[in-house]
Amino acid sequence: MNGRDEALEEVTELAYRPLAAVVLAAGEGTRMRSATPKVLHPLCGRPMILHVLDRLVELPLARIVIVVGHGAESVTKTVQEQLATETPVEFVEQRRQRGTGDAASVGLAGSGFDLDGEDDVLVLTGDTPLLRAETLAALATEHRLTDAAATVLTADLDDPFGYGRVIRDERGGVERIVEQPDANDAELAITEVNSSIYCFRRGLLAPALRRLDPENVQGEYYLTDVVEVLRSAGHLVVAAQADDPTEILGVNDRAQLATAETILRARINRRWMREGVSMTDPEHTYVDASVELEPEVALLPGTILEGRTVIGARSVIGPHCRLVDTIVGDGTTIEHTVAKEAEIGDGVTIGPWVSLRPGTRIAAGAHVGTFVETKNAEIGEGAKVPHLAYVGDAEIGPGANIGAGTITANYDGRAKHRTKVGRDARIGSNNVLVAPVEVGDGAYTGAGAVVSRDVPPGALAKGVPARIEEGWVKAKRTDDEDEEP
Ligand code: UD1
Ligand code: CA
Repeated sequence: MNGRDEALEEVTELAYRPLAAVVLAAGEGTRMRSATPKVLHPLCGRPMILHVLDRLVELPLARIVIVVGHGAESVTKTVQEQLATETPVEFVEQRRQRGTGDAASVGLAGSGFDLDGEDDVLVLTGDTPLLRAETLAALATEHRLTDAAATVLTADLDDPFGYGRVIRDERGGVERIVEQPDANDAELAITEVNSSIYCFRRGLLAPALRRLDPENVQGEYYLTDVVEVLRSAGHLVVAAQADDPTEILGVNDRAQLATAETILRARINRRWMREGVSMTDPEHTYVDASVELEPEVALLPGTILEGRTVIGARSVIGPHCRLVDTIVGDGTTIEHTVAKEAEIGDGVTIGPWVSLRPGTRIAAGAHVGTFVETKNAEIGEGAKVPHLAYVGDAEIGPGANIGAGTITANYDGRAKHRTKVGRDARIGSNNVLVAPVEVGDGAYTGAGAVVSRDVPPGALAKGVPARIEEGWVKAKRTDDEDEEP
């Protein structure tokens, strides 16, 4: 059993009080300077708040309340669409963003909390995307074992700038938390910071929140001040330190977003390498959280895999590929390629310099070569489109070969039409297949053909031969024009 499973089991065994969670996500995120709500900025293709919620739902929770405000509608919609969980999730709106303490009060006012219930509540923010489930479980366990009124997840940071500092008492308990703008020099020198992730006895948190005031530099209701309120009422507040301080990284601006994404990407890459994927240069390999890779896949430098992309066993992708929502079979090789919403079979070779646009389906053993663009096209088993071609709205039969420089003229200026090339057909170099048109099974076309009528199976279509007019230049040019040819 690994650490994660153990931690989750332990907290489940200790579940003698129901556990709920309140996630604060109403803030504007001013420091992001963005029209998008902060918690919806993506890391590795997934909105920030979903990274937090994905980990949270691994815990045995009775319910999750999400406090929304800035961009409430889009935050709610995104979570509803993308979070997979059985745990009931409720959204409550904080109309004015008056601080984290006010946001927590709004969260506790959500339905489903019965007023005198003796449950525990995890309070966390939507801007800590690197948090792990085992850390949350360890926090809840520590809270229960110490029987504290509040347990604060803290971390020791080399650079604590911007975070609230944790002031301990002589017995190691937490005395108070002081925010960066309110701290004096001695307090600023403290390196233990507040993660903004806590576990509270809910019955004690609610009245403590009512006693907060906004008498501080930022004029806000600070959730952090609850520590002092609980302490002055004689309650115990303890700290649980995160083993890995990077986990509590709070994202407030785009530089922190980039830092968090780099850490998350490294984690994703390590996980895939453990599962048997090789990466020549993991620092230059970008795999979204939603991507699936099979064993023995090799990812070469500059590879970017996004969305619902799946790569089959033993396929080699890269260098320099961007695949979005693309399914790749087993034993396929793709280099220097951009693919979007494409399906690629087993044992296919693609590239270099290929653009596969939506609706491209390439069957097993096919080859799509240098400088080829495809769109809404089916390329049959073993078919070849080796050089300089455009294949759009087309079906290329199994075993067919498309000559260099061939294009499907699919657009008549108003509508798109289809081209069909039969099994084992041979299209000559530099053809124009004027759709709608069909070239039958086994048919041939000559070099440079403009094929505007259907070609029966087994036939040859010869195209536009250049007619030669001797003496044309001399006859057309007068003396006062350019020099003799
Ligand atoms: C907060 C903590 C700080 C801690 C840091 C960790 C307070 C006062 N400070 O500071 O001690 O070190 O997190 O990252 O709590 N939010 C609301 N409604 C509001 C205000 C904020 O929902 O009215 C939400 C935000 O959307 C955000 C979270 O609360 O997700 C934290 O707010 P933020 O402004 O980022 O707090 P920090 O300054 O980072
Ligand atoms: Ca923050």
